[in-house]
Amino acid sequence: MTKAIETDRRETGSAPGRGAAVSVDGVGIRFGSFQAVSNISLDIAAGEFLCLLGPSGCGKSTLLSAMAGFEAVSEGDLRVGGTPITGPHPGLGMVFQSSEALFDWMTVRQNVAFGPRMRGATRAAQTKLADEYLGLVGLRHCADRFPGQLSGGMRQRVQIARVLANEPGVVLMDEPFGALDAQTRQVMQEETDRIWRASGCTVVFVTHDIDEAILLADRIAVMTAGPAASVKSVYPVDLPRPRDEADPAAAELRRALRADIGEEVRKALRDQGLDPGLDQDVDLKGNLR
Ligand SMILES: Nc1ncnc2c1ncn2[C@@H]1O[C@H](COP(=O)(O)OP(=O)(O)O)[C@@H](O)[C@H]1O
Ligand SMILES: [Mg+2]
Repeated sequence: MTKAIETDRRETGSAPGRGAAVSVDGVGIRFGSFQAVSNISLDIAAGEFLCLLGPSGCGKSTLLSAMAGFEAVSEGDLRVGGTPITGPHPGLGMVFQSSEALFDWMTVRQNVAFGPRMRGATRAAQTKLADEYLGLVGLRHCADRFPGQLSGGMRQRVQIARVLANEPGVVLMDEPFGALDAQTRQVMQEETDRIWRASGCTVVFVTHDIDEAILLADRIAVMTAGPAASVKSVYPVDLPRPRDEADPAAAELRRALRADIGEEVRKALRDQGLDPGLDQDVDLKGNLR
């Protein structure tokens, strides 16, 4: 697989195309009588990088959990590669914000080999897959270390390698770099762009960071404030990769997204009994700027 990835990347610069399409059709998710999200429809193409952007608490993680098969949908239809999602599946990989999801008592290689081991791969195949994907995230030299001996950014790379070792069609990422410092986050964003292109996976990436979305996404889906959050608008990001934040088209898109989401954040604050005022600019966590 790595050979195929490397060859493909070197010769054509494009991904090998193993991504699966995700189809979300009229999806609603309830927790008891609380309607978290409602009537969400999104068609995500195989190999696409889609960012889900929205105010804190609107239901981004809830929707992603449903895509991962962790949360049941209450209404509508959710499919990956044409097959309804009925529960967790190795074809769907989830990268969490916290790298506590790693097994601290296992080496980095054992962590990455865990999925293939569970699937019954031979010992040789487990090691081969683990080393290939550790190579892809630039951590081959750390294979025999334990997660506790690595930095936060390195642990997130191990998490990504562990997900990719299952060779999923879809990788779901829930604010994966939210806990990292700004410099490490920037490196990880650039690495994510490279790894995504090399792996050919479909990626659904949740963030509340507009710049992160502009840096990574093919399309950005903006969610409304909850409850009963839905998709407000979808923006194509027609900018060459790797992205340049200083590109005037990026600045234009940033302005449009800030206006669009700012409206939702203000709505959410008003619902909480706080009135930020119409002329105040607020960030996606509801802080005044
Ligand atoms: N298991 C749950 N039980 C009840 N309510 C939940 C549960 N999970 C999430 N919620 C609620 O659903 C809404 C959306 O949450 P979440 O998806 O975590 O938002 P986001 O990821 O956009 O910040 C919130 O109001 C949250 O309190
Ligand atoms: Mg969340």
